[in-house]
Amino acid sequence: MRNTNKDFIFLLQMEELKIEITEDGSHTLYVPTLDEHYHSTHGALQESLHVYIEAGLRACEKDQIHLLEVGFGTGLNAFLSLLETESRGIKIIYHTVERYPLSREKVSALNYPSLIAPQHSDTFTLLHSSPWETPIEITSQFTLVKHCFDLSQPAQFDPQTEFDVIFYDAFAPDKQPKMWTLEIFEKIFSLCSCDAIFTTYCAKGEVRRTLQTAGFVVERLPGPPGKREMLRGRKE
Ligand SMILES: C[S@@+](CC[C@H](N)C(=O)[O-])C[C@H]1O[C@@H](n2cnc3c(N)ncnc32)[C@H](O)[C@@H]1O
Repeated sequence: MRNTNKDFIFLLQMEELKIEITEDGSHTLYVPTLDEHYHSTHGALQESLHVYIEAGLRACEKDQIHLLEVGFGTGLNAFLSLLETESRGIKIIYHTVERYPLSREKVSALNYPSLIAPQHSDTFTLLHSSPWETPIEITSQFTLVKHCFDLSQPAQFDPQTEFDVIFYDAFAPDKQPKMWTLEIFEKIFSLCSCDAIFTTYCAKGEVRRTLQTAGFVVERLPGPPGKREMLRGRKE
């Protein structure tokens, strides 16, 4: 992985991450220098459930789902998806891309397991401690493949699979515009199966139009608490 000066600055910023409590009692992380949170301050858990689980995962009717998440971060979306495999009796092969993995200390301070499913605390830890670039069977129904690279760099990602669901959870376009480009969305579109679902918390008109140009049919849906709208795309 090439370490550019810009990368170095970003890494420094990530080290300053602060844990904060959002309005539903669940944690999020705040990056002071970016003035950006990992989740909605109106409720991290509610946002993940609304945008990714309800509008994304539950909109896919397959029994075996190949999923791609952009931005593994706290692992909240992965944890909720794993729990969903048990309640729905489905299988998920969960690929996730992350350029700046969290430290073990930060992960162990997050309140997601105690808040959501204390009996699965070890599983939450395993999501973070499992090795990168290798498929790991976390449970018989949930396989995790973590990829550590910079998604905004060209030609770094060539999985031998087609994705049915995309969780697009990058930092906001005004904070990290390089993560919301036509080039990235075209690449993701080319990795999607027919009928694939792309879901994101972001509702910006410019993002909607870029997704449409990449090939997705995009709809605006009601957003989670504190946000009027979100976007969902489909490959038709
Ligand atoms: C809005 S946070 C959400 C993370 C996660 N989904 C969660 O629930 O905690 C965005 C994530 O994208 C990651 N990220 C930032 N730039 C990236 C890049 N160029 N390539 C891959 N991941 C990146 C950040 O480190 C962060 O974990």
